[in-house]
Amino acid sequence: MDSDIPSWRFLSTGPPEPVVPSKKPFRVELVGGKRYSWCSCGHSRKQPFCDGAHKAKAPGLMPLRFVPEEDSTVWLCGCKHTNTPPYCDGTHKQDFIRSMALHQHQDA
Ligand code: FES
Repeated sequence: MDSDIPSWRFLSTGPPEPVVPSKKPFRVELVGGKRYSWCSCGHSRKQPFCDGAHKAKAPGLMPLRFVPEEDSTVWLCGCKHTNTPPYCDGTHKQDFIRSMALHQHQDA
């Protein structure tokens, strides 16, 4: 098993690997009690949040839905390989992310 790949990626069977839309996290002001959907596949055009693109571009991957308890400013993962989704854990600084190509939308 490749130790560079976060362990939570192995919890389900055979999902596609996410693409990397950003090699930096997104600073986001969250509203307590509001429901959010963090994009886990990397294909959304509304990063770091899901826009439904996973249904066509990454079947098998789902957004991570969460509700913060209180208003807060957080760093949400942009490389989609964090071990603490939806939050950045610094994984974007690792070599395997640095060497990956940034995702480009095909119809951009
Ligand atoms: S678009 Fe990426 S999880 Fe929905």
